[in-house]
Amino acid sequence: MLILSKEIQNFIHANLKTDLHSLLLKKSPFQEVSMQEIVQQIKGRKVAEKKFPFLLREGIIFPPNLNLEQASSQSTAEFKSQNLKGQKFLDLTSGFGIDAYFLSRNFEEITLVEQNLDLLEIVKHNWGILGRKANFVRENLEDFLTQNHEKFDLVYLDPARRDEHKNKKFLLEDLSPNLLEIQEKLLEISDKIIIKLSPLIDISYLISALGNISRIEIIAVKNEVKELLVFIEKDLRNEDVEISCINLESEDSVFNFKFKEEKSAASEFSEPLDFLYIPNNAVLKSGAFNLVSCKFALRKLHPNTHFYTSRKKVENFPGRVLEIRTIDSKEIKKGEKYNIISKNHPLSPDEIKKKYRISDGGNRYLIFTQSERGKVILKSL
Ligand SMILES: C[S@@+](CC[C@H](N)C(=O)[O-])C[C@H]1O[C@@H](n2cnc3c(N)ncnc32)[C@H](O)[C@@H]1O
Repeated sequence: MLILSKEIQNFIHANLKTDLHSLLLKKSPFQEVSMQEIVQQIKGRKVAEKKFPFLLREGIIFPPNLNLEQASSQSTAEFKSQNLKGQKFLDLTSGFGIDAYFLSRNFEEITLVEQNLDLLEIVKHNWGILGRKANFVRENLEDFLTQNHEKFDLVYLDPARRDEHKNKKFLLEDLSPNLLEIQEKLLEISDKIIIKLSPLIDISYLISALGNISRIEIIAVKNEVKELLVFIEKDLRNEDVEISCINLESEDSVFNFKFKEEKSAASEFSEPLDFLYIPNNAVLKSGAFNLVSCKFALRKLHPNTHFYTSRKKVENFPGRVLEIRTIDSKEIKKGEKYNIISKNHPLSPDEIKKKYRISDGGNRYLIFTQSERGKVILKSL
């Protein structure tokens, strides 16, 4: 491939820091390769530096932006690959192949299905460079499933969103492939299916719409929820879905529970005591608001404020723990620096900063929230 010639690769490396907009306006110094193709490689390398550093080596080709955005990160893919092992692995939505590369590393035979020919060619080339073998199938996965008679130990899917109507309720029908249409077929070819979904999807809806779910992992990286990983099993022994809340690249412990447990749990309430607990975003996404109170013997501040409190410090809480005291607004001095948190409180952090003439920063927290008695301000010690 021309893009891999020494001259063009040298040009790419020399321009890694150049402004890409101005570069795009220039004429390509190479006759056979356009500036657009060159810029695509520069962008790819830049994305790879953060998202998939294992691809920062000679000979790797990067696809267009959309495929880079749709690909999983190396860190989540590596996490998902833990404990996966077997003979035959099938990824029905290969994309740029990041998930497939890691998830299949302990399998003997790997099949990647992708409808986008150009993308599949890139993956095929890169896997050659990385020394990995696979059957690369350029096909619509629905057609593949109709023709296929093979069985697999694990089938993986990471569906793409058909449209970007961000405010619309997220439904499984909005995905390509439509999982509801192919689920039966999937269970015919494998006893175990893993599906990656957007964190925007509602977990109760997911459980009621898709059958045979054994487990859902809510995966956050540095407290930003990145994906829901759904495990489907043909022979389900337990009816109740296990939920795991994971915050990678943090010190937080994993929080596990059974989905139905939350329904039967009840919170106890209290005014702020000596410690304040703020669950991480994976736990908040799980909706286990009462279970957090029960399992850690903590009291909730208010039905709509997912903050908890205790007299004595509880260890291994999946989130932030602050030693606090309740203060009067007069104690806030003009010009002081705080990390401001506002939850279930009428003022936004910006309004708070303006009103009290304080700014962001430092290592103390100021928390504006509500307990059952009304508005409260808490300060970390
Ligand atoms: C979100 S991306 C997958 C990213 C991949 N997991 C990774 O880590 O690089 C989804 C891919 O599925 C492909 N796809 C969607 N619907 C498909 C279908 N019906 N048949 C085959 N491929 C499909 C899309 O072309 C897209 O490349």
